[in-house]
Amino acid sequence: MVDATSGANNHANQRQNGSASRPSDGAAGQVLAVLVLVLETLWLQVRIWAEVVRGVYLTLVPPAEKSVAGEVVLVTGAGHGIGREIALRYAALGSTVVCMDINEKGAAETVLEIKALGGAKAASYKCDVSNRDEVLAVAKTITQEVGPVTVLVNNAGIMPTKPFLEHSAEEMKRIFDINMLAHFWVRFPSLFTIIPLWNGPVEASSRGLLNSQKIV
Ligand SMILES: NC(=O)c1ccc[n+]([C@@H]2O[C@H](COP(=O)([O-])OP(=O)(O)OC[C@H]3O[C@@H](n4cnc5c(N)ncnc54)[C@H](O)[C@@H]3O)[C@@H](O)[C@H]2O)c1
Repeated sequence: MVDATSGANNHANQRQNGSASRPSDGAAGQVLAVLVLVLETLWLQVRIWAEVVRGVYLTLVPPAEKSVAGEVVLVTGAGHGIGREIALRYAALGSTVVCMDINEKGAAETVLEIKALGGAKAASYKCDVSNRDEVLAVAKTITQEVGPVTVLVNNAGIMPTKPFLEHSAEEMKRIFDINMLAHFWVRFPSLFTIIPLWNGPVEASSRGLLNSQKIV
């Protein structure tokens, strides 16, 4: 005699274990799984070779470079080092360069160097990029005084060079505030204000080039 209660329990257990029999179980299911694996492997091969061919083609016939003349380029950490060099390079290419730095003197010096190139437009703004309120306030001023930023180079950062365990808690927090969180404050001012402050089509940072509104 079949015990209805135990039958129901068995079904419930099978559902929980995911072991209930399905039409694809058995030999037919295994054949199907192998077929899917073979097709996926073949498709992967096709995609790999397509990328190889594309890479070779782009090496032989490189696409025309986009002009950045007339773009409004915001470079954070433009008062020294790599940021200053990037600012000078954009200025030489005809961009209007906005130099943002916590070091007011350094940013002003970069602007002087840019102006010495002759004809290049640049302005400097003191701003601690790890301070969200300050970023929003300065962003608003930049939009009013220079115009909407179209290219953002998120370069400002600190890199204390000492062994990990020698960092104090405060130093570690500061590293995160500047090297990590500041990217959010500078990248998305439009999230926190009603008027979009800048709509950069391109953003460069030490983490690579970004051109997406859907990834963080
Ligand atoms: N130099 C390297 O070998 C190297 C390697 C990998 C990554 N990086 C990264 O590249 C970026 C630039 O490096 P660098 O060597 O030119 O550094 P740098 O120290 O010469 O210049 C950094 C600039 O950022 C500014 N800055 C620092 N904190 C700031 C803040 N809170 N708000 C606004 N401005 C701030 C500084 O005043 C300075 O002008 C950094 O993010 C760094 O971590 C550098």
